[in-house]
Order: sequence, then structure tokens, then C-alpha cells
Amino acid sequence: MYSLQLLLRPSPALLLLVLSLQLGTNKAQDNSRKVVLMNFQMPQTASANEEVTAKLRVETQLRECMVIECRLISNLPMEGPFTYRYTGCLCENFPRTFYWDFQTNRSLNVAAVVDITRQQGICPNNEAVTPITANRFYVLANLTII
Ligand SMILES: *[C@@H]1O[C@H](CO)[C@@H](O)[C@H](O)[C@H]1NC(C)=O
Ligand SMILES: *[C@@H]1O[C@H](CO)[C@@H](O)[C@H](O)[C@H]1NC(C)=O
Repeated sequence: MYSLQLLLRPSPALLLLVLSLQLGTNKAQDNSRKVVLMNFQMPQTASANEEVTAKLRVETQLRECMVIECRLISNLPMEGPFTYRYTGCLCENFPRTFYWDFQTNRSLNVAAVVDITRQQGICPNNEAVTPITANRFYVLANLTII
């Protein structure tokens, strides 16, 4: 299992790329199709053991479909629904949304991670591609327990 630190070892350049993918502000890329766009929503604060919902919306601008695996990781060990991994087929014009309901009594640093995988039997007829350039995308967020 990857720790948050291991996962975040990729260069600041990757992080920048992720951020610009997220914000769509990279002018140089305006004409190119984005492999993965992520919108991650989680409350910034909660009380101890209050149920919190994290919501991840994933879309692609590629014409080809991809198999994605989505999960959350955190700086603290978590159990239950927080650890669910969702696998799905991501195609243009068909965004996917995944939810995690969980509770914690300690503040968390969270990364929502999308991996593009080669899993069989997810996309119809296995008609899916994997990009050569990058197959992991993530967004960071914090939940503060007040
Ligand atoms: C937080 O929750 C865990 C298990 O859910 C429990 O073992 C621990 O005592 C709790 N800590 C506090 C400060 O409430
Ligand atoms: C989350 O909190 C850490 C400190 O624990 C901070 O360094 C980081 O910038 C925060 N990240 C976000 C996305 O707010």
C-alpha cells in the first residue's frame, strides 16, 4: 500500500501539471485533450466522528475510453468505506462520480487518486487505452477536525 509520502514523491512538475489540469489554466494545453479532469469535494472541517462525504468526479476529453481505479489515501491509517476502491470505465461525455462516506476523530490530509489501469472486463469489449505519459492523477485536500 502506498503511503501519502511515497505517492507524492513525483516531481513538483507533475503536481503543477495536475493543478493545471484541474484548473484548466495551462494556455499551452488549451488545444489538447485532457486525459483526466478531477473535481474533488470534501468538507474542510467536521466534528469528531461526524459522517463526512467525499465526492470525486472524473472526466476525460480523450475520445478513447479508459479503465480507472479511484481511491482515497490519507496520512493516517483508515478503515471502512474510506478504503473503498472503485473501478469503472471512463469515456468522453460520460463523467463518473464516486462517493466515500466516512468518519474520523483526527484531522486528515487526503489525496484522491485516479489510476488508469489495464483491468479486463470493465469497459465494453475491453475497448480502452492507457496513456504513455502519465497514468496516475491526484488531488489533495485536508479535513480538519474541530
Ligand atoms: C478515535 O477513534 C478511535 C477508533 O475509532 C479510538 O480508538 C480512539 O480512542 C479515538 N480517539 C479519541 C481521541 O477519541
Ligand atoms: C494540507 O495541510 C498541510 C499541512 O498539514 C499543508 O501543508 C497543505 O498545504 C494543505 N493542503 C491543502 C490542499 O490544503
